[in-house]
Amino acid sequence: MRTPVESGDPRIEPAGFRRSLGEFATGVTVITTSLGGISYGMTSNSFASVSLEPPLVLWSIRRESTSYAAFESCSHFAVHILADNQIDLSQRFARSGADKFSGLDCQAGLGEAPLLDHVAARFECSRSQAYDGGDHLILLGEVQRYCRYDRPPLLFAKGRYAVAADHPETRVFDIAGIVPGQDGGEERVLSNLMIRAYSTVAARLETGRKSAGLGLTLMQARLLRAAATSPDKTLEDLLPELLLDFNASQNLLSSMIALGLVAVDGEARMRLTGAGEESLKAIIAHARANEELLFQGIPEDDLATVRRVLAGIVSSQTGGPARATA
Ligand SMILES: Cc1cc2nc3c(=O)[nH]c(=O)nc-3n(C[C@H](O)[C@H](O)[C@H](O)COP(=O)(O)O)c2cc1C
Repeated sequence: MRTPVESGDPRIEPAGFRRSLGEFATGVTVITTSLGGISYGMTSNSFASVSLEPPLVLWSIRRESTSYAAFESCSHFAVHILADNQIDLSQRFARSGADKFSGLDCQAGLGEAPLLDHVAARFECSRSQAYDGGDHLILLGEVQRYCRYDRPPLLFAKGRYAVAADHPETRVFDIAGIVPGQDGGEERVLSNLMIRAYSTVAARLETGRKSAGLGLTLMQARLLRAAATSPDKTLEDLLPELLLDFNASQNLLSSMIALGLVAVDGEARMRLTGAGEESLKAIIAHARANEELLFQGIPEDDLATVRRVLAGIVSSQTGGPARATA
């Protein structure tokens, strides 16, 4: 058996325990309710299906959440399975307390639970049993109404957001990616080719990064870059850029402080240490070298075209400026 990256007693090593739980990929939901005319909602990935007959689902709520009392005593709640373009909504409902519904156009569902739009699926539930779950309360809901839209779901794994893609080894993916060409031959659908190219490049970069002994995970490298490009920001300031939940980002920052790469001042502002700057330089140098190797033999003109096309696609999706720089 291979030596695990980490192991131990969860009571002594809660951070490692949490990271190990994060290996289980989930969807992301926002669960809403209404009590006394006030709307409540929170992001949750503890949602799971339980039974078809009767139709039951469950999720667990941390007892310290500000909306705990509302969910503990509500008559109904609505579970929204988020679509992959709803990270903003997930982040909005993952913040404690604040007026999470301001500016949102919600219909009232069963028990007045607010219903959110543009989700992948929704389950309106009457609140059934509640069970003790340590520092969480496990809530069972009996589904009274469901609806599903044909949208790709948002995923959460390893403490960060992800999207669902067909596994490259599935044959259906290959067949769907090939269409008859005008000359009678076969052509590959461009978007499928791009996804395959992305998987290949990402896997190569990851392998290269590991074998170069840079010793940092992808998220650690990302925090390093974010702290370097936006110095004197707090972890909370950088959350939208890191796209991590607060707990995962705190673990990440602790690991960087322990490695001596990031320092935090009395007002929680982060800065790279000398070692952090050196490490970032090594990562950038490595990425450049790896890229040269990866695209070896492809004429510079072709690469320039690829850069221009990809930057155009990205900017047409984000509305941001097209940056076709190397
Ligand atoms: C992806 C993701 C999943 C989460 N899952 C849960 C969960 O299942 N249960 C829970 O109590 N908190 C969960 N949280 C944290 C809550 O959303 C967060 O604590 C929120 O601020 C609670 O809001 P409240 O304090 O206003 O009630 C999750 C956060 C994220 C980003």
